[in-house]
Amino acid sequence: MALVNEHYLKLKAGYLFPEIGRRVRAFIEANPQAGVIRLGIGDVTRPLSPAIIKAFHEAVDELACEETFMGYGPEQGYEFLIDTIIEKSYNPLGVQLKSSEVFISDGSKCDTANILDIFALGNIVAIGDPVYPVYNDTNVMIGRTGDADEKGYYQGLVYMPCNEANGFTPNFPRRKVDIIYLCFPNNPTGAVATREQLTGWVDYALRADAIIFFDAAYEAFITDPAIPHSIYEIEGAKRCAIEFRSFSKTAGFTGVRCALTVVPEELVAQTISGESVHLNRLWNRRQATKFNGVSYPVQKAAAAVYSEEGWKQTREIIDFYMENARIIRDGLASAGLTVYGGVNAPYIWLKTPGGLTSWDFFDKLLNECHVVGTPGSGFGPSGEGFFRLSAFGNRENVIEAVERIRKSLM
Ligand code: MLT
Repeated sequence: MALVNEHYLKLKAGYLFPEIGRRVRAFIEANPQAGVIRLGIGDVTRPLSPAIIKAFHEAVDELACEETFMGYGPEQGYEFLIDTIIEKSYNPLGVQLKSSEVFISDGSKCDTANILDIFALGNIVAIGDPVYPVYNDTNVMIGRTGDADEKGYYQGLVYMPCNEANGFTPNFPRRKVDIIYLCFPNNPTGAVATREQLTGWVDYALRADAIIFFDAAYEAFITDPAIPHSIYEIEGAKRCAIEFRSFSKTAGFTGVRCALTVVPEELVAQTISGESVHLNRLWNRRQATKFNGVSYPVQKAAAAVYSEEGWKQTREIIDFYMENARIIRDGLASAGLTVYGGVNAPYIWLKTPGGLTSWDFFDKLLNECHVVGTPGSGFGPSGEGFFRLSAFGNRENVIEAVERIRKSLM
């Protein structure tokens, strides 16, 4: 009989968002007239902008002619997209990258999980708490951890609490670690890291010989010009950091799927015998073997995000979501809730009122307001007593949800 990967059995039964979906579906079945508003999973609601759709259509048409048809593309991504990203998105930040350092993929969720392939199991890994659950669960799946304790902390992972006291930006790990996940702007708390804080992390990683996995999926939502968009804006980061970016929230690609991972050529890790190995070479090998690239029309659509029209339209949508964030944040703060995030990030992180647990507040909002959010404890034990609302809804729903929540608190 085949044996299963028993590390999966250490995980909680369901991934957070499908579990929420299950509860919401059950509620709607029992209350079909409720008019449920979903501000749970960070899924976009605005359609793709016209410049992106035009490029998408044109690329599909190319596939319809023998002369322009294309089969397999480069596993690393088409050069037209990689070069556009470097020129339009990194160079303006003062960051120079080679095209061989950028890898196009179908999502940062997959990349932040798949990157573990090229690192030894014996590495000590530090993650935030609360955290995007993928970082935690994928380390459990590959067998880096023991079981979870009664609070939900997996033995063998180093958790870095993110709380009100540290402004939801983690302090350096309490012990020596080899890999550190950082996510800024942060999912779920909406916190950002200042240039000084990021410089501190890069210096720390260089001193400790650690690698930072920098998840910048929400960088496009930064409104404060002083906040770095890329870890490579910090001196020395190319020697200690891998960066993940995504078109999902930036350009409405949650369903279309396109992202990128930057693995600088100078970034090295070691073999047990002390030989230095370039991680770019390993990631390239991994992708070439296990991945066949993102489809041509999707990459054409992604490149169109950076055309003059495309970026103007994309910015308008980002601004639209950030206005939603302001409406949620201001509306709930004026109703007496303590709210964080929502300024440089599309997530609002609020303290549950009256000491309710995160799941009790979830049930209260669902049952009394017919509004879906995400319980903070679903992101880790330090998220208990907090709740996340996403700003990706449509305007009408956002205004209505805030009104319903305000009324329920009076
Ligand atoms: C979230 O709601 O946290 C995100 O949509 C999840 C994701 O990007 O995978």
